[in-house]
Amino acid sequence: MIIAVDGPTASGKGTIAKGLAAHFGLPHLDTGLLYRAVGKQVELNGGDAEDQADALAACSFPAALLADECLRSEAVGGLASRVSVHPAVREALLKRQQDFAFQTGGAVLDGRDIGTVIAPEADAKLFVIATVDARAERRFREMQDRGEIVTLEKIAEDLRRRDERDSSRQTAPLVPAPDAYIIDTTSLGRDAAFAAAIEAVEAALAATD
Ligand code: C5P
Repeated sequence: MIIAVDGPTASGKGTIAKGLAAHFGLPHLDTGLLYRAVGKQVELNGGDAEDQADALAACSFPAALLADECLRSEAVGGLASRVSVHPAVREALLKRQQDFAFQTGGAVLDGRDIGTVIAPEADAKLFVIATVDARAERRFREMQDRGEIVTLEKIAEDLRRRDERDSSRQTAPLVPAPDAYIIDTTSLGRDAAFAAAIEAVEAALAATD
């Protein structure tokens, strides 16, 4: 069984995807990390994230980079969003994601284009959303816990800019698949969001029976 979980940054999709993977006993891939690694590698190479050739060269980042905590920062998220607009970068990361999705037994993947491009044949597609204010609030608390100094306004502004870039790009924009189940986590706690996700997966599975 393949479960696709898409949505914008800090919508709760990562937590939902991890929970679904544990619940159904499936492996999980956070595809945003791949784009974050490319963004970070461009910086390490002294390249320009806006330049397609520089971004493509960074796709051969070392595997160990994926485990580096530095990928979690807002700055690297911004670089990821810049490199992800290049079709050549998306193409370079496609096979790796599809190999993971189509492994025997299935998988859960979260990202922006799992249900639309990577695995349109997924058994269940979820699109997780929340208002910018709710997402900014969550990100603010996470960053405070990590000791990063930032204002709520700045986070909200960055999220809006990133949403705009992700949604308006030509290749694989952030849009729900036509048959995706939309889960709005704005006023849902972790448990309620997870319960809604399980319900959506079960409904999707029942619909394909
Ligand atoms: O999900 P996360 O915030 O880690 O993703 C970082 C950036 O990587 C996103 O803003 C998006 O531009 C890009 N991305 C993407 N396609 C994916 C996953 C992430 O374009 N499947």
